[in-house]
Amino acid sequence: MLVNLQTILKNADEGGYAVPAFNVYNMETVMGVIKAAEETRSPVIMQFYSRLATTGVSDYLAPIILKAAEMASVPVCMHLDHGAGYEAASIALRNGASGIMVDFSALSLDENIEKTAAAVKILSAMGIGVEGEIGHIGSAADGVPTDYTTVEEAKKYVEATGVSALAVAVGTAHGRYKQAPKLAIDRIREIKQKVGTPLVLHGGSGIPDDQIRLAIEAGIRKINFGTDICYSFLDGVFEVDRKIYAVDLFMREPIECVKSFAISKIELLGAKGKA
Ligand code: 13P
Repeated sequence: MLVNLQTILKNADEGGYAVPAFNVYNMETVMGVIKAAEETRSPVIMQFYSRLATTGVSDYLAPIILKAAEMASVPVCMHLDHGAGYEAASIALRNGASGIMVDFSALSLDENIEKTAAAVKILSAMGIGVEGEIGHIGSAADGVPTDYTTVEEAKKYVEATGVSALAVAVGTAHGRYKQAPKLAIDRIREIKQKVGTPLVLHGGSGIPDDQIRLAIEAGIRKINFGTDICYSFLDGVFEVDRKIYAVDLFMREPIECVKSFAISKIELLGAKGKA
């Protein structure tokens, strides 16, 4: 069933686990993720990047995610990831998203607050939770930022905007890490204690398992996996015998690869059996 962002994260907060948020791109990645969630009885977030909304891809992708959610017996949230502005947010809304991230983290804190608060005002009236970000989480190719989100900024931002989830910069970055990141676990704990709101960890691909467990114990409630779900799918594609040309048969193995990857993360995040 389709559920909104705030509901799926409130349950995770109460249960002390994190919900896996998988970036999906096509029908096959959606199928792999939903099979994993059903098999493990786990709540799941399927999200698409802003680019997919603004280039028209989500007009095709979103109905597939929504159909998967409708048929599923586990809670599914369809979320816009890193919404780059009101245009992407509006498209995702039109597509039926039940969670929206607006990312104004590249702006000053005050501008970020102003723009995020305006989005929350409209979206909360529609029952849709908003994820915001402070302390910009960059690309792993540029190195892991050591400029962490502060407790004061987080408190000010959450109080002024009313976001349902907060993405924090605590030592992660997007893409493949050059070396394993070391997360600022104490900072996560401090922010969680003072702010309360469910916290989100971006750049989930390549974080060592022990760091992920500590981050959840400290208060992270949503962890994003983008790069590694792509690799799980593509590795599957490259393994398939080229003699298989019927695309549905060709895609069986890549779907299974995505499913296995998703199950491993669901188990790591403690979400198994939480549906
Ligand atoms: P990775 O691609 O590093 O897993 O990051 C995904 C992400 O945080 C999407 O917002």
